[in-house]
Amino acid sequence: MSGELTASAQPVLDLSRLPRHVAVIMDGNGRWARARGMPRTAGHRAGADRLEELVRTAAEIGLPILTVFAFSTENWRRSPGEVQALFRLAEELLRDKLDEFHREGVRLAILGDRTRLPVSLQREIQRAEAVTAANQRLRLNIALNYGGRADILQAVRRLAEEVKQGELDPADINEEVFASRLYTAGLPDPDLLIRTGGELRLSNFLLWPLAYTEIWVTDRHWPDFGRQEFLAALADYQQRQRRFGRVESNS
Ligand code: FPP
Repeated sequence: MSGELTASAQPVLDLSRLPRHVAVIMDGNGRWARARGMPRTAGHRAGADRLEELVRTAAEIGLPILTVFAFSTENWRRSPGEVQALFRLAEELLRDKLDEFHREGVRLAILGDRTRLPVSLQREIQRAEAVTAANQRLRLNIALNYGGRADILQAVRRLAEEVKQGELDPADINEEVFASRLYTAGLPDPDLLIRTGGELRLSNFLLWPLAYTEIWVTDRHWPDFGRQEFLAALADYQQRQRRFGRVESNS
């Protein structure tokens, strides 16, 4: 696909200047459900439908990398029923949508500590990652049992172990070396973070990679976040001036 797409609100999205990597905090499922007198799990189910739509849109417009926050290391504090429902949804998504994602050229990867996930979910993850490993159109990272601090800690532990084994000189540890031990190894940092549900915080998502990321927040709850608003967020991003600590070139 090439050319321009008009999002519901101006400005116009230029498909030749898409961000490389967009991260999404899909918040507000519970509030969406409560407002409709439905259980929280119904909100998550509606959220899973939105995630599928987002993946289709991202693949269609040619976005290279999408990273979504599906379950944080803090989400274990929710009721066992809600935690189970979320894992079941993740499993269904990986099982039932795998063929479609594969056909669309989506490469799936899970970020986070998968060893604590249900064994049946771990099996679906393994299968989805293996089947889609060579796909190149869209890289879809699903953060599951992921925490930014936990990621930094596991990277530190790995580096310490390498130093202890005599494989690494501490003087050689720089930003690149450190980033290569994170779950996000090999990925460029997100250019844009989208957060639905209106909260103005990072919630322990991708702490290291988000250092210079542009942030876009909407009050809309995740199950109401559709294609038009996604395109509007991307178009808004294209208006931003990213300076990475520099001053503007004309000042
Ligand atoms: C935050 O809403 C959302 C989550 C904790 C889970 C996100 C999950 C999905 C979008 C759907 C399922 C997808 C997979 C792969 C599991 P919240 O429950 O915190 O909402 P609230 O802030 O309104 O309570």
